[in-house]
Amino acid sequence: MRPRIVVTRKIAEPALALLRETGDVWVPEPDRALPTDELHAAIAGADAVVSTLHERVDAAFADAAGAQLKVVATVAVGYDNIDVPALAARGIVVTNTPGVLTDATADLAFGLLLSVTRRFGEGERLLRSRTPWEFDLGFLLGTGIQGKTLGIVGLGQIGTAVARRARAFGMSIVYTGRRRADTDVERELDARYLTLEELLRESDVVSLHCPLTPQTRHLIDADALATMKPTAYLINTTRGAVVDEAALADALANGVIAGAGLDVFEKEPEVHPTLLELDNVALTPHLGSATRETRTAMAMLAARNAVAVLRGDDPLTPVVP
Ligand code: DGY
Repeated sequence: MRPRIVVTRKIAEPALALLRETGDVWVPEPDRALPTDELHAAIAGADAVVSTLHERVDAAFADAAGAQLKVVATVAVGYDNIDVPALAARGIVVTNTPGVLTDATADLAFGLLLSVTRRFGEGERLLRSRTPWEFDLGFLLGTGIQGKTLGIVGLGQIGTAVARRARAFGMSIVYTGRRRADTDVERELDARYLTLEELLRESDVVSLHCPLTPQTRHLIDADALATMKPTAYLINTTRGAVVDEAALADALANGVIAGAGLDVFEKEPEVHPTLLELDNVALTPHLGSATRETRTAMAMLAARNAVAVLRGDDPLTPVVP
């Protein structure tokens, strides 16, 4: 019997073609976020599910799919939406897509850094509102980043890629995380390992690259923001809930920090209303990995993972419970 493969959202055609070689593939038509009851009905009898960061994948999900479910391959590097131990307890393999989205996400993080420090959004809004303007030497002055310090929270693949870009722009690097990076990486980036508090005090820009876990939820809260320099900027391209969004909105409105570049939000697709009003915030709607090339590579990796498990082989990028 051919396995049943459920793909919860539309993915790149070559990845669907790969899955169709192995099993009978079901994709929602039209593409849409399925409400939980529809999702649970759709996955009933699935041997593999290719999912996204929108679905809650937990014990109820596994029960709805049934005992034959072998693999959940998420098309994302982050898997905070998946209860990995609950699935592992049922013998279900979970895989994610590390590596293939590193550059796209690092590019976006650095783009937000430049956008907020150099006030791209303010300039564009001014032009689009047809407000009269003329060049003058004090007009829309931003903050230069050369010689400034970038604090990376989580020097994994994406954090390292952001640090490399920052080095090319003349910034120096400090970082924090659960453990120290390899000495090769530290040496290449000339990076200093600090505690989170030291990093928040020293950095001119803080960029978040740690995964969302119970330990990192609201890692950046009102106290952390108050520890930062009033001239500093915060960049978040990981998960919204790493930051207490209400506290951030407050800090930005009251000059506790200078600005923020945000690609992710605590209750997506909602954005705290204050953030939408403030000029010192650069905003993008969760676009970190959103290039055609990267999304195709992510879908292909997820499909390869699903196929490997269905064939009884080791997955390429398993999530270790
Ligand atoms: C991820 O992969 O976790 C991103 O947030 C979406 O690509």
